[in-house]
Amino acid sequence: NNLPVTHILSSFLIFLDGCIDWSVDLKEYHVLAGEPVRVKCALFYSYIRTNYTMATNAKLRLIWYKNKGDAEEPIIFSGHRLSKEDDSIWFRSAEVEDNGFYTCVLRNSTYCMKVSMSMIVEESDEGKCFSSKIRYLEKAEITHSKMINCPDIEDYLFPYKQPQMTWYKECERVEWRSSITVNTTNIWIPETEEGDGGNYTCELKYGSRLVRRTTQLKVTALQTTQPPKVLFPPERQDTVIEITPGMPLSLDCKAFFGYSGENRRPIIYWMKGEKFVEELAGHIKESEVRILREHLGEKEVQLSLTFDAVEEADLANYTCYVENHIGKRSGSAILQKKDMYRLELAGGLGVILLLLGVLTALYKCYNLEIMLCYRRHFGSDETEDAILVIPFLSRTSSDEETFALEILPDVLEKHYGYKLFIPDRDLIPSSTYIEDLARSVEQSRRLIIVLTPEFVAKRGWSIFQIETRLHSMLVTGEIKVIMIECADLKNVINYQEVEALKHTIKVLSIIKWRGPKSNELSSKFWKQVVYEMPAKRRETLSRRQVHCQVFHSHVHTGTVCLSKITNLNISYQKKCYNNNNKCSFTFLMHKTDSICLPERIMKSFSIYSWVILSL
Ligand SMILES: *[C@@H]1O[C@H](CO)[C@@H](O)[C@H](O)[C@H]1NC(C)=O
Ligand SMILES: *[C@@H]1O[C@H](CO)[C@@H](O)[C@H](O)[C@H]1NC(C)=O
Ligand SMILES: *[C@@H]1O[C@H](CO)[C@@H](O)[C@H](O)[C@H]1NC(C)=O
Ligand SMILES: *[C@@H]1O[C@H](CO)[C@@H](O)[C@H](O)[C@H]1NC(C)=O
Ligand SMILES: *[C@@H]1O[C@H](CO)[C@@H](O)[C@H](O)[C@H]1NC(C)=O
Repeated sequence: NNLPVTHILSSFLIFLDGCIDWSVDLKEYHVLAGEPVRVKCALFYSYIRTNYTMATNAKLRLIWYKNKGDAEEPIIFSGHRLSKEDDSIWFRSAEVEDNGFYTCVLRNSTYCMKVSMSMIVEESDEGKCFSSKIRYLEKAEITHSKMINCPDIEDYLFPYKQPQMTWYKECERVEWRSSITVNTTNIWIPETEEGDGGNYTCELKYGSRLVRRTTQLKVTALQTTQPPKVLFPPERQDTVIEITPGMPLSLDCKAFFGYSGENRRPIIYWMKGEKFVEELAGHIKESEVRILREHLGEKEVQLSLTFDAVEEADLANYTCYVENHIGKRSGSAILQKKDMYRLELAGGLGVILLLLGVLTALYKCYNLEIMLCYRRHFGSDETEDAILVIPFLSRTSSDEETFALEILPDVLEKHYGYKLFIPDRDLIPSSTYIEDLARSVEQSRRLIIVLTPEFVAKRGWSIFQIETRLHSMLVTGEIKVIMIECADLKNVINYQEVEALKHTIKVLSIIKWRGPKSNELSSKFWKQVVYEMPAKRRETLSRRQVHCQVFHSHVHTGTVCLSKITNLNISYQKKCYNNNNKCSFTFLMHKTDSICLPERIMKSFSIYSWVILSL
């Protein structure tokens, strides 16, 4: 005729002096020093199917002990700080010395059952309204909605009475943006932004005291719908690495993992053919997975395969695999012995190349004008675009930004007649932005990167590392890169990474912009830029102007709407015909999609014809 036991946690169940001991309950009480807390005897909530009223009616007594070391001391309820109320003890104001285990024992002369509750009292962090050790954690995906509740306050609410609650972010009362709804017990963010991450504290008035709960909100990227990407060795092509046997080697696999839930660790590993690293000879080891950078839960990671000394038998095909819940990707590197014959030849060639280099340098320094003049008269009729990557439109109106955002595009387009593609201006912001950008770069003859301090600090170039196609074009020299350096970047954060980027680019010219004096059309700066640009004849300029006029006559109203706006998640293909300098754009859309392009975008393309393709 024992009271029915709801959970049989046999390993916790210990009989000692005839008392059934359930050991420590799973629920821990975390409380800030100075705040009230109610510690409930867990027997009535998880272990027996009865409540305090019924137990007292059955003449059972509830006795409380505090554990001191191994001993249990009965608690004497005297004074105001501590009191016994039904099945609970109330601390009017918990103090750090109250830390510890509290045991409730329910018994009569023949029956006994007990369980302990753990209570942890923490002081607030210095200068804060919370302790970072007792925070609740919530996650929100960027652009998705999020509700933050004030957790675990049921014991401090009165029926039929509106709770008095104040919300703080980073312990300050903030002006919430208008879309955020704050009501008594929760905060509703309809569209989470990166800056919404942080510590949210709700403060409930409870008598003369305050109960505070702090929730840390972590903002993450959207759950990825793509497998991870191998950045190096590049996917879908074998990279040949020439090595000298006997030398140590480190093969670094780099990969980009989109956000795929918090508890998913990046899966990345090397294989030699069908064999895992563990099955290989002892001198080949895999390093720990290193996280190179992380933003909103998206990670760039590196895993190195290290060879103490490469042996002949190690010359093979090594594949780096990356995997997430969507799928698997891989990139392969083939180790080859360095060809001695070619090495010697390279030595001889090296001298010639060096000489050539010196000559070219001399020629560049003194004969830039001659070269440009030659081109003006005999240059081919190439009209490929150049692409210009410009910093985020931050408009800080420094000289550098004015140069990068206004002067450079103006001079190249209007004065020299180059056709530029400027992502911030010409690309529709959409989920395919990076792919669109990569495609545009593929169609271009030059890639101009303007390194302003702002651009560098914000790591605007990281797309060149993340987008595989872009990255491989840089590495293989498929596209010539003109890097314009504004100001001295040495002291800007991330400078090291820019240096690293420069080393990966095969065909690179660096031009220094030396302040506003470089803006003058007669300056050496422009000669250098034009020299690095593809050759073209002057007359193409006038032809394009005519062409633009034709286009503009179509657009009177400011925007061209093919239908009403639904979304801009569309991609397009651009085809340009060199002979008559016209381009067509093919938008790939679903039947239900429609687009509406602002004039700004329309103007920047020399649009000749539209081909609308329904899928
Ligand atoms: C205790 O349980 C009994 C029977 O289930 C119920 O009638 C009574 O209202 C409960 N008392 C409390 C305080 O919940
Ligand atoms: C002690 O409590 C148990 C459980 O309610 C009951 O079965 C038992 O009869 C009680 N014993 C005495 C001596 O009251
Ligand atoms: C607070 O917001 C929640 C969810 O939006 C809603 O269900 C609840 O009724 C609101 N409470 C008050 C007092 O407005
Ligand atoms: C949240 O609090 C922790 C601990 O005090 C602090 O390190 C962190 O910077 C805070 N978060 C934000 C976004 O301020
Ligand atoms: C290297 O191994 C990968 C994965 O097994 C394979 O896809 C690739 O074709 C191999 N390359 C060569 C040259 O054998």
